[in-house]
Amino acid sequence: MRTAVLVIAALLATASLPALSQAADAVKPVVLITGANRGIGLELVRQYSALDWKIIATVRDVPGATDLQVLAKADPDITVEKLDVTDHAAVDALALQYKDQPIDVLLSNAGKTPRYMSAMKGVTTIDYEEAMNSYRINALGPAKLVAAFLPQVQKSGQKKIAVISSKAGSFAEGPQMAMMYEYRASKAALNMIVHTLGYETAKKSVIIAAISPGSVDTKPVKGELGYGSNFKQPGAGQPGDSVAGIIKVIAGLTPAQNGEFLDYKDGRVIPW
Ligand SMILES: NC(=O)c1ccc[n+]([C@@H]2O[C@H](COP(=O)([O-])OP(=O)(O)OC[C@H]3O[C@@H](n4cnc5c(N)ncnc54)[C@H](OP(=O)(O)O)[C@@H]3O)[C@@H](O)[C@H]2O)c1
Repeated sequence: MRTAVLVIAALLATASLPALSQAADAVKPVVLITGANRGIGLELVRQYSALDWKIIATVRDVPGATDLQVLAKADPDITVEKLDVTDHAAVDALALQYKDQPIDVLLSNAGKTPRYMSAMKGVTTIDYEEAMNSYRINALGPAKLVAAFLPQVQKSGQKKIAVISSKAGSFAEGPQMAMMYEYRASKAALNMIVHTLGYETAKKSVIIAAISPGSVDTKPVKGELGYGSNFKQPGAGQPGDSVAGIIKVIAGLTPAQNGEFLDYKDGRVIPW
């Protein structure tokens, strides 16, 4: 009798090993990050990977995302997906692909950064094509992402949406000078979209917040900004510090912060 009990116990123990590992997998929180191939997005992947999260990392150019591929090779919990946030059909298709996947943190990071060489000049130098592209990517891109993925966030444990914005889009704390019309207007529009979304997310027990990452030395991408490769963005911090702050702010998000614009350093509310 005693032997039979021991045999059954041993069988149960071995049979439950894969089930246990699946159970452990099932409780890993999931984050979806856009623009994950470089800059702040790539660092977000690195740090969430170190925290043992499951990561859906989206990029415009999968084969070209070589730094991200290195991370994905070392961590089977990183899945790389193709996504241009201005391609709304592609956003819908990805949301359909992940329709049964709870997403604890939807992290809208992809953005069109300003062209510094022209950014410092006045109203006569506005590049209207650049302005429309900035609006499509920086403001409408996150709005579409939220529209498509809100059900997956709603069915998750943490129910959070973080949208990387910029103080450049704040009337109160942005630079008090004429510069970067294209970028600043797109981020101000984004802030309004997040504020407005807050009224919808509140009803679904989801928390959304815009987050300023501070000034971060993620540049230059050769040719994009017109500077040489040894250019350092004045006063900029390192991606590692900014991202550690962003992740901490997201981890501590409360319903009282829903629809707000927060600083990566301490979660302080940044006035619009
Ligand atoms: N760095 C700063 O000082 C700073 C300050 C304030 C706010 N931010 C914000 O922080 C976020 C990340 O900035 P970053 O410094 O890491 O910028 P970055 O190095 O220029 O990276 C931008 C990322 O966005 C992606 N992206 C651009 N257009 C896209 C589109 N249509 N669809 C999908 N992805 C697209 C880029 O992909 P590709 O490689 O394919 O172009 C890249 O992965 C942005 O929203 C930015 O506005 C940055």
